[in-house]
Amino acid sequence: MCGIVGYVGSKQAAPWLLEGLQTLEYRGYDSAGVSVVSPSGNLHGVKCAGRVAHLVERAKVANLNGTCGIGHTRWATHGAPTDRNAHPHYDCSGRIAVVHNGIIENYQVLKRQLMLDGHAFASDTDSEVIAHLIEEAWNGPAKGDLASAVRNACDRLEGSWALAVVCADVPGELVVTRCGSPLVVASTDDGAYAASDVMPLASVTSHVLQLEDFDIATLGSDGSISIIDRDGRTVDHPTAIDIDWDASAAKLGGYSDFMAKEISEQPEAIERLLAGRLGEHGIEMDELTLTRAELAAVDRVFIIACGTSYHVGLIAKTVIEKWARIPVSCEYASEFNYSDVLVTNHTMCVIITQSGETADTLTAARRMRGMGCNVFAITNVLGSTAAREADGALYIQAGPEVAVASTKAYTAQMVAAFLLALRLALAHERMSIEEVQRHYEDLCQVPGLMRQVLKRRWQDKQAARLFNGKTSALFLGRNVNSTSAYEGALKLKEISYLHAEAYPAGEMKHGPIALLEPGFPVVAIVPADHVHDKTVSNIQECLARGAVVVGVATDGDERVAKMCQAVLWVPPCPDELIVPVVAALHLQLLARYVARDRGYDVDKPRNLAKSVTVE
Ligand code: G6P
Repeated sequence: MCGIVGYVGSKQAAPWLLEGLQTLEYRGYDSAGVSVVSPSGNLHGVKCAGRVAHLVERAKVANLNGTCGIGHTRWATHGAPTDRNAHPHYDCSGRIAVVHNGIIENYQVLKRQLMLDGHAFASDTDSEVIAHLIEEAWNGPAKGDLASAVRNACDRLEGSWALAVVCADVPGELVVTRCGSPLVVASTDDGAYAASDVMPLASVTSHVLQLEDFDIATLGSDGSISIIDRDGRTVDHPTAIDIDWDASAAKLGGYSDFMAKEISEQPEAIERLLAGRLGEHGIEMDELTLTRAELAAVDRVFIIACGTSYHVGLIAKTVIEKWARIPVSCEYASEFNYSDVLVTNHTMCVIITQSGETADTLTAARRMRGMGCNVFAITNVLGSTAAREADGALYIQAGPEVAVASTKAYTAQMVAAFLLALRLALAHERMSIEEVQRHYEDLCQVPGLMRQVLKRRWQDKQAARLFNGKTSALFLGRNVNSTSAYEGALKLKEISYLHAEAYPAGEMKHGPIALLEPGFPVVAIVPADHVHDKTVSNIQECLARGAVVVGVATDGDERVAKMCQAVLWVPPCPDELIVPVVAALHLQLLARYVARDRGYDVDKPRNLAKSVTVE
């Protein structure tokens, strides 16, 4: 949900601001803008609807001279994605510029008051009130002190924000702050940087500082960073994060799109995650802050997540219940936050979130902690809010995931959940060390199985043609592969804009079967497992109504081969619970080919954002 960047230093600001926005574009891409202050105190900028690439073109002719500036890439909440609603927003004098990520919930009250006081507004956004509030404070109580003016303005805000602010009257100063939305800062020899997350900073430093809510940081052109808290006290020891991603990890590296790159990176991601996890006492997971006795006492698990991560949660529920015999509830965070929740004294909460910044998931985690539950985060982004606020965090180490549709984080999070299930199973004495070892060894086969699927991508390319001219599709699967169906359908609709419905195969007869007509595409995940025959019968029901069926089946399954118009072959897996991790690659590839056949940008699907930091 919107990305923000800021720079002040000895170099021209615009080149890095624009580069940083391109790196952050996965957070939103319906409009973008930058403002730069020249050393002589001129504030000028350019902003426009559309992608950052469009802004880059506009910036070329705008001659943005200055060594201090801010930038923004937007995912619209308040106000249409137009030029006038693009950030930065300015005060009445045009000397203060602000970029904002978040939502100002009381903006209507504030705007009304500001207008009565004579302020003129130039946009329909909630964010613009911030520029005018800073203006009031700058001209009033803060008396020309930008950090104080920002603090003063924030005192009047309700909602969530990460802000970067520049003022023409202090050309060597950049002020940033946050409440509920992420923000990191970094000091280098060239100056000081700020960004919504570590990704744009990987090209300039390997060491960043994490701001806490209500911290206000003043960044100077000599690279200095001074931070005060909401009471004006100096913050001496902000949380430091070492970035171990090199900048090239967030570059295409020869691939045509990030989705293709990230699909291909899955075997290595799983290898990294599994390395060193098996010790003589079972699964090594120091990230868990519960003692073995506390783990053994866990009598209920809540898994809370959104989107693709929620699908990981569904698989995790099956695996934890099967291996550790602990009842698990898997909840959408946005639903969980507004429902009754029954916890025991020994309830454990697991949040699954690639970005670690999804607002609904964070709210749920805070709620669970407030009820005394131990919260364990499975996440990808170093130093993310989820990781910092949880009692323990397991990093999946998948590396930066840039494409909006999650791929490598999905499979790595699943494997992380399998490891957690094994840890719980051992603590609950549901498995011997030997059994844990055997399951771990099964997981170690996943990268090799994935590599085999990647070599078969031509199957997905061919099958994608069956979707030409179609407007809708049905995904079916049973047991753990009903979740594969949900995720396959989500991938397809996210990037190809084809309507895709997913159902447990046996449930199809209670409604979705009415959709079927000759030529209707169905994707059936039908591996060699204990429900294979049942799913085969459901495929027959589809065929009887003229559907075109793409099967996702285990090598050598002649029965499925004869029935289906196309088969995406999955190599035999050592455990049927592992099939969703391996089959996921076919479903990702299929969705990507369908979307590309339609000419869509698979990395930046319309209306979506990778990191959803608003409720
Ligand atoms: C957005 C993204 C999805 C992601 C979901 C949850 O909707 O487009 O790909 O699965 O957020 O994100 P999280 O970072 O919490 O896993």
